[in-house]
Amino acid sequence: MNLIFLGPPGAGKGTQAKNVAETYQIAHISTGDMLRTEIRNGTRLGAEAKAYIDRGELVPDSVIIGMVEQRIKADDCANGFLLDGFPRTTKQADALAELVEIDKVVNIDVPSEVLVPRISGRRTCPKCGAGYHVSTHPSDICDQCGAKLSQRDDDREETVKNRLVVYAEKTAPLIAYYEERGKLITINGNQTIEAVAADIVKGLSE
Ligand code: AP5
Repeated sequence: MNLIFLGPPGAGKGTQAKNVAETYQIAHISTGDMLRTEIRNGTRLGAEAKAYIDRGELVPDSVIIGMVEQRIKADDCANGFLLDGFPRTTKQADALAELVEIDKVVNIDVPSEVLVPRISGRRTCPKCGAGYHVSTHPSDICDQCGAKLSQRDDDREETVKNRLVVYAEKTAPLIAYYEERGKLITINGNQTIEAVAADIVKGLSE
């Protein structure tokens, strides 16, 4: 099964994607995580991407499309994959359609006023990648591996505001794009994490 998770920054794509990928035994591919790994590893691609990410802009289509094209050829995608954060432009969606058939697109819908507090309270483990929110996990230590949690550089308020503008301009049109192609399932993302997860499983089984 090949899935896409669509939604604005902070919608809960990463939170939900991990479990869904495990349930369906498919690869979880987060383009944001891939880019952050490139930055950590000090690669040329990472250096190019960092300048865009820090401004809350999208990394150029040519860079991202090539990266995803390679990634979905890997062995762990033999059973399918879940794309989290890709595509983000119509050009990326058209390029993906040339490469593979997508089964379903899960659009996680969350009102914009909920997104900024969600993102600014997010903390991530730099060692194992586990994600938390300060409201439910006030400690700055990772439960899973004991490392000190940190905040993403692009989760500063000014950058978040620009990410939301960029989402509305460049990525939101993909909702209509996949609706027209009969692939879209829209889920209310403004519920508890457990309730959103249950709605996604239900939506995918229908
Ligand atoms: P990326 O890493 O993909 O960031 P994003 O799409 O902006 O999404 P986020 O990771 O911020 O949010 P999320 O929806 O995963 O929410 P999460 O589950 O963490 O991209 C970063 C940058 O990389 C981009 O800005 C761009 O520059 C570049 N990039 C990446 N892909 C690209 C592409 N295809 N093309 C071009 N550039 C690209 O949840 C957020 C918080 O809310 C967490 O603390 C979580 O615990 C909490 N939470 C989650 N669900 C709930 C809930 N139901 N109730 C309460 N709290 C919740």
